[in-house]
Amino acid sequence: MAAEKPPLKNTKVAKLAIQDELPVGKSATEFPAAPSWQQLPSGELGEKVLRGYSYFVNSQQLAPKYVGNGLNCVNCHMDAGKKENAAPLWAAYMSYPAYRKKNDKINAFQERLQGCFLYSMNGTPPIMGDDTLVDLSAYAYWLAQATLGNGVGAKFTAADIPVPTDAELLQGGKRDDFPFMPAYLAAGGSTTPVLPGRGYPKIDEPTLPGDITRGKVVYQQQCVACHGSNGQGQQVNQRYVFPPLWGPDSYNWGAGMQRVNTAAYFIKHNMPLGMPNSLSDQEAWDVASYLDSRDRPQDPRYQGDIKQTRRQFHGNTSYYGTEVDGKILGNASYPNHPNKGQ
Ligand code: HEC
Ligand code: HEC
Repeated sequence: MAAEKPPLKNTKVAKLAIQDELPVGKSATEFPAAPSWQQLPSGELGEKVLRGYSYFVNSQQLAPKYVGNGLNCVNCHMDAGKKENAAPLWAAYMSYPAYRKKNDKINAFQERLQGCFLYSMNGTPPIMGDDTLVDLSAYAYWLAQATLGNGVGAKFTAADIPVPTDAELLQGGKRDDFPFMPAYLAAGGSTTPVLPGRGYPKIDEPTLPGDITRGKVVYQQQCVACHGSNGQGQQVNQRYVFPPLWGPDSYNWGAGMQRVNTAAYFIKHNMPLGMPNSLSDQEAWDVASYLDSRDRPQDPRYQGDIKQTRRQFHGNTSYYGTEVDGKILGNASYPNHPNKGQ
């Protein structure tokens, strides 16, 4: 390994990227390894990390206050937010604050978390600074150690891990004044985080446009055994063991996953469970189209005009507002979380 140290000006982070869909797509074979539980810091930081982990894998404990459907964060950010190509938390943490077209402003990490509560969880987000957001940020921060310092972060012992304040944790790691860099520099590491595996890597749009009828066939052959013939998932003791893909307990019409392209990327790299990359790009796109042609909870940004909501927020990325099986999707969607707007 080259012993070369980065010039100090590299401590400046790159210009804030404009992003709506995530800027991903590079293939890679090596990914940052998330820390092991032996590297869990003692004291308050460790307790926050553990609580954040627990909310992430069992988000139902945050229902009904913040979570309005049957999902857990881990259903889409797999392996407890550690899996590359499944929007891992370690990459996300080092990518905020960042501009998001979705709300047209620079988002701190906690605001990005709020977004998944509102849309993916069909819920009401905890308010800024809430302990729930602190704990989830602490968990993401802890996982992100591994992305720093050309591997130096991954080698840190629990006692070496810098202890941030709550306000620092909520910001995210992509900023000029990220307060933890000196530790990595002192240990000989570069400050540029290594982020291959972020998001769900893009696949090219296939030759034929996505097709609901073909997608239904893929669904019935490859997905129905776990997710059910009505996309309702499967429950044991009133807990989902296989998550719902549409219907009242799934993500709503504002979520990233209801974009056909985003769902196709996720499905291609992560589904069927245990068989990633087994579908062709065409099959992934078709089955994503089929999921997207089923109804789900309303887009929380809907103000009474489906066409307008589609034009303003959906473009051509979803079937929302279009006619499928003689019905306009969105006209009779399931309700949003009861606290919406409070
Ligand atoms: C239904 C699937 C789904 C669920 C459930 C879900 N998310 Fe997400 N999440 C996404 C998608 C899709 C994206 C990428 C968004 C995009 O491309 O617009 C994302 C993005 C994120 C990001 C930013 C990733 C990055 O690299 O910028 C964070 C952080 C995040 N989610 C946290 C959470 C948390 C915390 C929960 C639970 C409270 C959660 N998500 C639940 C689908 C989901
Ligand atoms: C062997 C069972 C199994 C099969 C087959 C399977 N899935 Fe999944 N799927 C899961 C599980 C389990 C999760 C949640 C992953 C987790 O929590 O780690 C999931 C998550 C998902 C999600 C994100 C969560 C949600 O509820 O929206 C989507 C979308 C999805 N699957 C689509 C598909 C599609 C499309 C197929 C067929 C091509 C498929 N799955 C096949 C078990 C399966």
